Amino acid sequence: MKPAPQGARPTGTDHVATKTNARKLIALIAAAGATGAYAAGDNTANFELRRDTMRANGRALFGQINRVVRGQLEYSPATVTAAEDLVKNVASYSKLFEPGSDVTGSKMKPEALANKADLDKLSADLQKAVADLLPAVQSGDKDKIAAAIKPAIDSCNACHNKYATLN
Ligand code: HEC
Repeated sequence: MKPAPQGARPTGTDHVATKTNARKLIALIAAAGATGAYAAGDNTANFELRRDTMRANGRALFGQINRVVRGQLEYSPATVTAAEDLVKNVASYSKLFEPGSDVTGSKMKPEALANKADLDKLSADLQKAVADLLPAVQSGDKDKIAAAIKPAIDSCNACHNKYATLN
């Protein structure tokens, strides 16, 4: 094998210069990353708020009220609290879909934020369903609760089917 022509080989100094440039680049990326992390901090906070609100709603609707409907849990003051929590949580749904909150790890579909008006409409449908669910839960009448929980679950699913990848 022929040795490579001298000029093609990096000289010792070139090598050092390359290393220095690499270090500068790494430093730059780190600095940019730090700035990015600051902005990304808000996006992450917005994502976490959405995820945690969703989880709380899941616990209230499926972990509490729907289990009462199914006879897996006794009706109790906690059932009413769950319905009250749902009403409170869904009131702020329009704030849950902030631009930039589709961070890595989010189960929100990319097209969701481009359809804010539709998200708001689906949120309003849920607000209505949950507002109807509260008096049914307060009544303690399981048939009424069973009838009222269906539109609420349908509203959750309507948005998830379009804008979330949950499995
Ligand atoms: C207007 C749209 C919309 C409505 C209505 C909606 N969700 Fe969601 N939900 C989402 C999106 C988007 C995600 C994905 C969030 C993410 O990962 O960024 C999600 C995620 C979730 C998750 C998974 C959270 C996790 O652990 O990652 C649960 C649980 C959930 N929703 C429960 C509910 C329940 C219960 C309802 C009804 C009371 C509901 N959602 C109504 C949009 C909606």
